[in-house]
Amino acid sequence: MQKEIVVSGIRSTGYLHLGNYFGAIKNYIKMQNEYNCYFFVADYHSLTTHPDPKALKPNVYRVIAENIACGLDPEKVALYVQSDLPEIPELYLLLNTMAYLGELEKTASFKEKARANPDNVNAGLLTYPTLMTADIIIHKGTLVPVGKDQEQHLEMARTFANRFNHRYGDYFPEPKAFGFAGELVKVPSLDGTGKMSKSENENATIYLNDSDEDIIRKVKKAKTDSGPTAPNMPKPDYIQNIFQLLNLVSAPDVVAKFDEDYNNCVIRYGDLKKQLGEDMAKFVAPIRAKAIDLQNDEATLQRMMKQGAEKARASASVTIQEVRKLIGVHYY
Ligand code: ADP
Ligand code: TRP
Repeated sequence: MQKEIVVSGIRSTGYLHLGNYFGAIKNYIKMQNEYNCYFFVADYHSLTTHPDPKALKPNVYRVIAENIACGLDPEKVALYVQSDLPEIPELYLLLNTMAYLGELEKTASFKEKARANPDNVNAGLLTYPTLMTADIIIHKGTLVPVGKDQEQHLEMARTFANRFNHRYGDYFPEPKAFGFAGELVKVPSLDGTGKMSKSENENATIYLNDSDEDIIRKVKKAKTDSGPTAPNMPKPDYIQNIFQLLNLVSAPDVVAKFDEDYNNCVIRYGDLKKQLGEDMAKFVAPIRAKAIDLQNDEATLQRMMKQGAEKARASASVTIQEVRKLIGVHYY
C-alpha cells in the first residue's frame, strides 16, 4: 500500500521554541517512520514579514539544524528549503487565479499582520494561504502536522484544492491539519496571553537555544497569584497555562502532585515554577547542544539541504507537469 503523504513547513523568522516543538516538530518525528514525509523551511513565507537579506541565511540554516537536533532524520524524510523548489512559486501563481480577494482578506492571520504592521500590507501577506496551499499540494500531501494556529490556513488549502478539482478535474487529494489523538496543540506563552511565538514576546517564550539560566529566569517571571482560596477551585487561565506547560515536560507523577496541592490549597507557586524551569531546561539542553554542533558544520547542513531538495523536486516536478496539462498551459 502507498504511504500517506505528509507535508509541513516552518518559517525562517527566528529561533525555534517549545511551541514549534510541541505543536509541529514532535509530530514530524513521530510520523517520519510511517509516512512519506516532506518537511521544509518556508523562507518565501518569511519574506512577507521579515525581509532582511542578512538574516535569511542564518535563519534558514538554524531551522534545518534545530529540526535535526530535535530528532528529524534527513535520510528518512525530504528536509529542504522552499525556495529550492521553483515548482512551488509556479503552482502558487496558478492558484492565485483561483483565490478570491474577499476570502483572502478575511483570513485571521492576514488581518492580524496587517493590523500589527500597517506600513507593510503586501500582496505576499494577502496570498500567504495560496503559497501555503502550493507547498502542500505540490506533493499531493494529505496530512499536515501543524499547531492550532494553522487551522484556518488548512481550511483554505482544502478550499483551493477543491476549487482546482472542480475547475480542472479531480486531481488533488484534500489536505488536513494533523495532530496526534486528533488534537492540534497550542503552547501558551508564559505571560498568560497568547501563544509562544518566534518573533513576539521573547520573555514569555522558551527558545530551543535558551541557556538553562534564561529558561529558569523566564519561568520564574510567569504570572501567578496568591494561590487558590478554596479547595478544588477552577484554575485561572494563567495557572492553567503553567500546568499545561508542566504536562509537556514533566513526569506525570510530578504534574499529579502539583495538581493535588492546588486542589488542597497548599500549592507553592515558587516550587511549581522551579520544577517547571528545571524540567524545561533539562528538555532543551541536549537539543541546544546538538543544534549548535550542527550549525558549526555548514558543509554537512548544505549537503543535507541539497539532498532534501532533490528528493522534493522529484515529486514536485511530476505534479507541476500534470497541473500545466490540466490547466491547458501545454503547447508542444
Ligand atoms: P512562529 O509562529 O513561532 O513564527 P511558525 O509560524 O513558523 O512559527 O510555525 C511553525 C509551526 O509551529 C506551525 O506548525 C505552527 O502551528 C507551530 N507553532 C508555532 N507556535 C506554536 C505554539 N505556540 N503552539 C503550538 N504550535 C505552534
Ligand atoms: N504558515 C505556517 C506557519 O506560519 C508555515 C507553513 C508554510 C506551512 N507553508 C506550510 C505549514 C505548509 C504547513 C504546511 O506556521
